Amino acid sequence: MVTAFAIANPGLEDLVEHEVVNLWPASQPQAERGGVTFQVTLGDLHRRLPELRVATRVLIRVAEFVAKDFPKLHKRTLALGWRHWLAKDAEVKVKVASQASRLKIKRRVEEVVAEAIEESRPPTRGLKTSSSLAAQIYVRLDQDRAMISVDASGELMHKRGDREEVGRAPLRETWAAAVVQRLRALLDRTAESSWMWIEPMAGTAVFAREWRAERPQRDWALGRMILFRQQAELASESDQTAHGTLSVDPIAHWCFAESNPARRQGLKVWLAEEESATLAESSRQLGEILIGVLASSSSGIQAALPRVVVVNPPWGVRLKSPEAVPTRAKQAEFLEDLEKNFGPAIVAVVFPRTREGLAGAPAGWREMKPLQFKVGGLPVVARFFEVRARLPR
Ligand SMILES: C[S@@+](CC[C@H](N)C(=O)[O-])C[C@H]1O[C@@H](n2cnc3c(N)ncnc32)[C@H](O)[C@@H]1O
Repeated sequence: MVTAFAIANPGLEDLVEHEVVNLWPASQPQAERGGVTFQVTLGDLHRRLPELRVATRVLIRVAEFVAKDFPKLHKRTLALGWRHWLAKDAEVKVKVASQASRLKIKRRVEEVVAEAIEESRPPTRGLKTSSSLAAQIYVRLDQDRAMISVDASGELMHKRGDREEVGRAPLRETWAAAVVQRLRALLDRTAESSWMWIEPMAGTAVFAREWRAERPQRDWALGRMILFRQQAELASESDQTAHGTLSVDPIAHWCFAESNPARRQGLKVWLAEEESATLAESSRQLGEILIGVLASSSSGIQAALPRVVVVNPPWGVRLKSPEAVPTRAKQAEFLEDLEKNFGPAIVAVVFPRTREGLAGAPAGWREMKPLQFKVGGLPVVARFFEVRARLPR
């Protein structure tokens, strides 16, 4: 059993705690500012790490000790058995944070720890690679206590390995996952088990991808650069409570609109095998299709489906787009358009925060608790609404 720390974006700690409880029910998670501490075996962490979608990184605590001088820091670090932890070809990178401690020259701390780790490993004769998946060691000094951790994730967790960066400030998958987690809770509160999903400005369909939670196609530091005795650890897993049983996806039909031809082509490829999907060139066109479906008497099952609309419109703060929503008035207009075009039962929308505050919602919409975070330094708010009259009971 080790102590792990899942790093969360400020404001998303509760959501990370929720996913840690779901993935490792017996791990005694504790949320604090900046993340969640939990107890887990390395085998269990390795097995379910790819399913953790809101956290930014996961660190594994290696040791904690008092270090008031460099010889002590060196001696204690040397004694930590790194040869058993680190892959032979792992390049080691050390990151240091220090506060209220005698050892405050970060560069020197970094050197001492890196040297001690190298000394404790067998000579490699040019084996070490400069792979992007280096073993990242974190040293935190606080009031002369050194806490040493290794990074289990490798690259940041939002890099799922399936999406090219879109635009200049793409919505990170970890943020989209946070929005999706809140939406899932809203859908779960209703009696309905079949929904229509509408992403009217889809880009790469980041929200739908997070909803579908496809397993990321990428490497993780744990198991590759950070080693553990897989056999022994995995054997212990059979003792754990079974969890994460597959449930039926409540989304019965997927609708996307995207005005950028290259992104739309990407969506087409992604949806190639999907029968229950509609793809339109623009949100207006998608709105017209849906109004048509509703108006037609032979519309069958689709018209009857309640709709969940998820949208991250262009913000227009840096990029001047005619569809942009940088002001309160534009945001109010945008919400009215969503009402008119899509007749939603549940809505999630990401807006930049304006000085004038939040825009009023259309009549009949009830606002739920928003999520606030920053994207590329810009404060944004994810707003959630229920439309009572259309909520399935
Ligand atoms: C801020 S991006 C969000 C994309 C997506 N949520 C993501 O993070 O990958 C807005 C997207 O809406 C598209 N877009 C802008 N106006 C549109 C419209 N009227 N109809 C459909 N798509 C539109 C843009 O091409 C862009 O891909």
